[in-house]
Amino acid sequence: MATLTALLQIITDGLNELQAACAANGDSYPTLNDVYSTESNMVQNKYAADVAPVIAAAYQLIALLTNPDPYILNWGFAAFYSASIAVAAQGCVPDILGEARHNGMHVNDIAARNKMDPGKLGRILRLLASRHIFTEVAPDVFKNNRVSSCLCTGKPLDKWEDTNGVGALAEFLGTDSIKIGGSLVDNLTDPETALSQEPNKSCTQRAFGTDLAFHMWLQEPEQALSRRRLQHGMRSLTGYASDELPSGGFEWSVLPPGSVIVDVGGGMGTVTMDLANRHQHLRYVVEDLPEVRMLMVCEVLVIDQACYAGNRACTAPRHVLSVPFQCFLSHHLSFIVEHDFFDPQPIKGAAVYMIRYVLHNWSDAYCVKILGRLREVTESTTKLIVHDQILDYLSRDTISVDTSIPGAARPMAQEPLLPYPDAIAGYAYALDIQMMAVLNAQGRTLKQLQTVFLKAGWKLERVHRFTAPHPQQLICSPI
Ligand SMILES: C[S@@+](CC[C@H](N)C(=O)[O-])C[C@H]1O[C@@H](n2cnc3c(N)ncnc32)[C@H](O)[C@@H]1O
Repeated sequence: MATLTALLQIITDGLNELQAACAANGDSYPTLNDVYSTESNMVQNKYAADVAPVIAAAYQLIALLTNPDPYILNWGFAAFYSASIAVAAQGCVPDILGEARHNGMHVNDIAARNKMDPGKLGRILRLLASRHIFTEVAPDVFKNNRVSSCLCTGKPLDKWEDTNGVGALAEFLGTDSIKIGGSLVDNLTDPETALSQEPNKSCTQRAFGTDLAFHMWLQEPEQALSRRRLQHGMRSLTGYASDELPSGGFEWSVLPPGSVIVDVGGGMGTVTMDLANRHQHLRYVVEDLPEVRMLMVCEVLVIDQACYAGNRACTAPRHVLSVPFQCFLSHHLSFIVEHDFFDPQPIKGAAVYMIRYVLHNWSDAYCVKILGRLREVTESTTKLIVHDQILDYLSRDTISVDTSIPGAARPMAQEPLLPYPDAIAGYAYALDIQMMAVLNAQGRTLKQLQTVFLKAGWKLERVHRFTAPHPQQLICSPI
């Protein structure tokens, strides 16, 4: 009972403080009935760190109050939630319901629009409504709520272009990712693959009957849809209407004008675009594999034409991406280069080599090769900036944290909560297992990251922790 009381207190105190802070700042905290918008997202982000203990306490209460049998089975069913979200997104249900607004729409009418079976679709939407994604306002009549409306893209064709990527990532999670995850037990127990760290011995090969590692499989012409979906989805990992990255952490603004920033394995340049929008005195290069580069070049051209035609992409940015894209183009700040990061780095002596969500795609030996290629071309002043999740141990033991590195240690939440509430509010641990399944790769603790840096000739100088679910920023110098 003492734990129950403590959790209840955390929830009560946290909510009282949230209400008081919102009142003092004149903010209206969004409800589930509000539609997703950049403005409401910004309010929610502003209080994300404050509400993290409340969320953690609520999850802990559920674990404590639920009988373990249904608790474990509920998590066992998680794949079907993921698949159902992907079905709803693929069938454009959030956009269709967006037109229906408050009264919602009967599933027969939704199905008439997206050509799905109304009976099956209704069951899918009801499962999601049972977890507060969509609302069933009358039997078989559904409407969007704040959660489901975050999947709206505003257009049925090229639907991920110019969005913040949440819908694309949700579809990836419920399609390719789920197929790959379905082979995890086999992969971890088959002696052929169980102990391997090789990307071509992961679940991907079992799931898709290929010998290729995931990123190479994605380059195949037949995988154009999967490639596009994932690359657009990567944007969601910085979306959330937050300017934390360009405005916090590393002091981009003090770099001399014309300093070169290289975004290694930069995908569609999501991070670069955020930075380029804010720090226009710098020059940016985005490097990636040929097919990804082509994707980005095409995307830039599409948006470019849209800009000049006065299209909505430029004038009314519903999603955070439009403005950076516009800036990215019109100021001629950047260029996009085809480069395999295992080959010698073509841009020598850049001010910063930046690498986001790449190291978690590779096992240690590969990470050392990638970072070693950058170390070969550095000046003494060059910085390596890694954006990746740092996996904290979930015990209250602090011996694993190197307190001599600024930003490495972090305050723990009060007991009986897990030490770091963002273990629940974010998805770093799930991402880690996804990396295991997809690429035989991993998320890392701070110590594991430091070991990789050292082997490649880099010294970790400081850490900047952004709010979950943003990845953390690790700033390194050449040794
Ligand atoms: C998880 S994504 C991260 C993309 C981007 N950094 C971001 O955060 O949005 C990993 C990226 O690494 C790229 N990649 C994989 N293998 C590569 C290689 N050998 N050389 C260059 N890029 C590669 C992929 O194409 C993909 O864009």
